[in-house]
Amino acid sequence: MSSNRVTKAVIPAAGLGTRFLPATKATPKEMLPVVDRPAIQYVVEEAVDAGLDDVLIITGRNKSSLEDHFDRNPMLERTLFTKNDHDRLASVMAAAELAKVHYVRQGEPRGLGHAVLCADMHVGEEPFAVLLGDDLIDTGNYVLEQMLAVREEFGGSVLCLMEVHESQIHLYGCAAVTPVIGSEAVKVKDLVEKPDTESAPSNLAVIGRYVLDPAVFDVLRNTPPGRGDEIQLTDALKTLAQMPASEGGGVHGVIFKGRRYDTGDKQSYLQATVRLASARGDLGPDFRAWLREFVVSAEFRDD
Ligand code: UTP
Repeated sequence: MSSNRVTKAVIPAAGLGTRFLPATKATPKEMLPVVDRPAIQYVVEEAVDAGLDDVLIITGRNKSSLEDHFDRNPMLERTLFTKNDHDRLASVMAAAELAKVHYVRQGEPRGLGHAVLCADMHVGEEPFAVLLGDDLIDTGNYVLEQMLAVREEFGGSVLCLMEVHESQIHLYGCAAVTPVIGSEAVKVKDLVEKPDTESAPSNLAVIGRYVLDPAVFDVLRNTPPGRGDEIQLTDALKTLAQMPASEGGGVHGVIFKGRRYDTGDKQSYLQATVRLASARGDLGPDFRAWLREFVVSAEFRDD
């Protein structure tokens, strides 16, 4: 069993984002703004808050806006400095100073499993975290820290699970679990990618946070394309769940109770924008007042 500490976060951001076309024709969906920051900045902040400041972003085509966002922009910084616009200057520099951000290119979007495999040279023989770049969870939620603690205790890999309505389970990977005596974590026995309601082993959906044992790389190399002809991370996790701990196998789950948004989905993106804007100290009061008026207005009603 590999027992090293987790220091690296991998953020896949090379998907085609077809559900958000045409906005994602020339811009990665991870760069769509949620209030005033691209979605992926929240994700990098979450990794850094959990102590992971070595970040590898898996990029696809249109990667330059991502790289520019996490880099310095001397001309813009000089202009803001000259105008004494220190708040905006600080916000621009913060993105560049958040973490040590590295990039690797996924030549073709061959699935999330393939994207994770692109991280093998950077990660090496250490356990690592994976955070999906379009998956936001409410700030102030410590699920990644909990997952890291479960990895320390049990080794192997750790998933983030969320209860969803049975009618929604076909949109997710789904886990069959058993309780672990004396722990809030559960043991993952099996996984099924996007099952029908009838064949789903539970209502526990796998969401976009993972702590993975480096054994996943060899498993992924031997995982044939699955659903949608893509190399599925779920298929590799299913194999890991059945492998012995001595070979880096074993999968646990942490059940997440907070709010989570898939910003690659238009409905969920809009919900994230409204919730996060409402909660902001600077924008929230005016925005909430406007929203209250709007929802009682004639314009808002269906009839
Ligand atoms: P999604 O399945 O949500 O991404 O992948 P997608 O394929 O871009 O979505 P749609 O259905 O076409 O809208 C989850 C995460 O995995 C990344 C995505 O960028 C996203 O962060 N991903 C997916 C890759 O990095 N590479 C891939 O080949 C596929």
